[in-house]
Amino acid sequence: MSKTPSRGMGPEYRPEEQRPIATVSTEVPHPNVHVLSQTPQLIALLTMIRDVNTNRADFIFYSNRIIRLLVEEGLNHLPVVQHTINTPVGISYSGVKFEGKICGVSIMRAGEAMEQGLRDCCRSVRIGKILIQRDEDTAQPRLFYDKLPEDIAQRYVLLLDPMLATGGSALMAVQVLLDKGVPEDRILFLNLIASPEGAENFARKVPKVRVVTAFVDQGLDDKNYIVPGLGDFGDRFYTM
Ligand code: PRP
Ligand code: URA
Repeated sequence: MSKTPSRGMGPEYRPEEQRPIATVSTEVPHPNVHVLSQTPQLIALLTMIRDVNTNRADFIFYSNRIIRLLVEEGLNHLPVVQHTINTPVGISYSGVKFEGKICGVSIMRAGEAMEQGLRDCCRSVRIGKILIQRDEDTAQPRLFYDKLPEDIAQRYVLLLDPMLATGGSALMAVQVLLDKGVPEDRILFLNLIASPEGAENFARKVPKVRVVTAFVDQGLDDKNYIVPGLGDFGDRFYTM
């Protein structure tokens, strides 16, 4: 396991040595892996969902807040074109607008938890599904089902899964998209927590896929769970 960095948190109301220390994300030296800015707000939200004593309602609420940050940042990685408009005071403003069509694709079941956050930002966005389940003993992913928009090859795809452990499930989902004709550089993977080895494995095998993650954690345990992690995301969001 790699050593994760720590940092004094919070604005300068207090001198540096009196600020609370929090563990922050490990950096991944790959140009297409983007880690959200490690702000006090993000760290506080992650602290809530990592806590074993957080109940399901709070887990959903705080996860949704992080998902919203991920979607908002993810949208910054889609291309824009020049868009000049006139304001009500009769002056023109040089701005931009998004170019091209998008869709979401969730890796079931945990990835479905991210769909609402995407819909909140992109009204009536089309959403496809890929059902991949990790074998509980071997951690090997198995593909059961996919249902994707017919014109997916012409869209930018926002692939949704909160957990990237070994990277096997996300890589399998990317392969499904590539087989449908989606170019690698049109896939954007949105993720809450990654392991360093999973992020590295993923970025090495599909280097043109952009990854936006909230946190790269310390490592994996002997069952290939992310540590410190948050346990099983799907169980905590849907059933616990
Ligand atoms: C979890 C998670 C990812 C996968 C990550 O799903 O949501 O899809 O494991 O592990 P990996 O990177 O080692 O492949 P799981 O298969 O447990 O199903 P769930 O969504 O139903 O919880
Ligand atoms: N899936 C999860 O939900 N959590 C992990 O730590 C690994 C895979």
